[in-house]
Amino acid sequence: MTRARVPPVLVTGATGRVGRAVVDVLMDAGVPVRALTHRSEAAATLPANVEVVTGDLTVPESLDAGLRGVGAVFLVWTAPPATAPAVVERLATYARRVVFLSSPHRTPHPFFQQPNPMAALHADIERLIAASGLESTIIRPGMFASNALFWWAAAIRADGAVRWPYGAAETAPVDDRDVAAVAARTLYEDGHGGGDYVLTGPESLSQAAQVSIIGDVLERRIRFDELSPDEFRNETEGSWPRPVVDMLLAAWGATMGRPAYVTSTVFDVLGSAPRSFRQYVADHATFFIAGTNPSV
Ligand SMILES: NC(=O)c1ccc[n+]([C@@H]2O[C@H](COP(=O)([O-])OP(=O)(O)OC[C@H]3O[C@@H](n4cnc5c(N)ncnc54)[C@H](OP(=O)(O)O)[C@@H]3O)[C@@H](O)[C@H]2O)c1
Repeated sequence: MTRARVPPVLVTGATGRVGRAVVDVLMDAGVPVRALTHRSEAAATLPANVEVVTGDLTVPESLDAGLRGVGAVFLVWTAPPATAPAVVERLATYARRVVFLSSPHRTPHPFFQQPNPMAALHADIERLIAASGLESTIIRPGMFASNALFWWAAAIRADGAVRWPYGAAETAPVDDRDVAAVAARTLYEDGHGGGDYVLTGPESLSQAAQVSIIGDVLERRIRFDELSPDEFRNETEGSWPRPVVDMLLAAWGATMGRPAYVTSTVFDVLGSAPRSFRQYVADHATFFIAGTNPSV
C-alpha cells in the first residue's frame, strides 16, 4: 500500500473520544485536518494548530464550508438519524472517500446480535454510503476501553466498589487510541477502499476481571457488587437512556458463558499489537483517580 498525497481530511466527532484521537494521529502523520464541531465553544478542546470548522449534522447545508476541498471524511454519527441521507449525499458531492465509525452488527457472535437501535442506525448509514458511490471503509469497534472510565471511575472514587450486572460477561475492550489509529491509517493510506474492519482488544475479559485489573493498576481494593438486571435498571433510572440500558443488558446476558469475540485486525492494519486493557488503565490512571476525563 502506498501513502497517498491527500487534501484535507474532515474529521467529524472531532471533539469526541475517537475523533479527537483521529485528529492527533492524522496531524502526527502530517495530514492536513479540518476538525468539525457543532458547538463553537468546543474548539478550545482541539489543538491550537488544527483548522476548526463549525457544522451540524442535523443541518446538512451547514457542512458545506467544511467539506469544500476535502478528499476524505471521517464520519461519526451520534446525532438523530433524520438528516443522514442528506448528509451522505453532501459528502459524496465534495469528497472521494469516507471512513465511517460503525459497530460489529454483522458479526455472528451473540453479543453483537441483540436488539440495538444504534446498530440499526449504523446499518442504515452504511446502506446510504454504499449507494452514494463514495469509496468507503467501515470501522467496527467492539466495546471501547474508555467505557470503564466513563462507567466506573466515579463509583470507584466514591465507594471503592462497582455495582454492576453480569460480572461474568466477557468483552474484549479495544483501546480508543487503536480504533483511532486504524481509522486514521485508512484515511491517509491507499488500499482500504471496501475495507470492513472489526476491531477488538487483544483478550476476552469478564467485566469483574476488568474491575480487578483497575484495582491492580491503581493499587486499590475495588469490590465488584453484582446487580440483577432489574437492580441495574433501577440504579440507572433517570441518568441513562433506557434503550441504552436495555441494549447493554441484552448484549451482556446473551454472551454469558462464552468468550468475547477477538480479532487480529488492529495488528493486521497497523502492524503493531493492540493495547491491552491494563495498558489503557495505566495510561489513564490519573483520570480514574482524579476524577477528570480525557479531553472529551
Ligand atoms: N462506546 C462504545 O463502546 C462504542 C463501541 C462501538 C461503536 N461506538 C460508536 O461510536 C460512536 C461514538 O463515537 P465517540 O464515542 O468517539 O463519540 P463521543 O465521544 O460520544 O462524541 C460525539 C461526537 O459527535 C459530535 N456531535 C454530536 N452531535 C453532533 C451534531 N449534531 N453535529 C455534528 N457533530 C455532532 C460531538 O461534537 P460536538 O459536540 O463538538 O459538535 C462529538 O465530537 C457512536 O456511533 C457509537 O455507537 C461506540
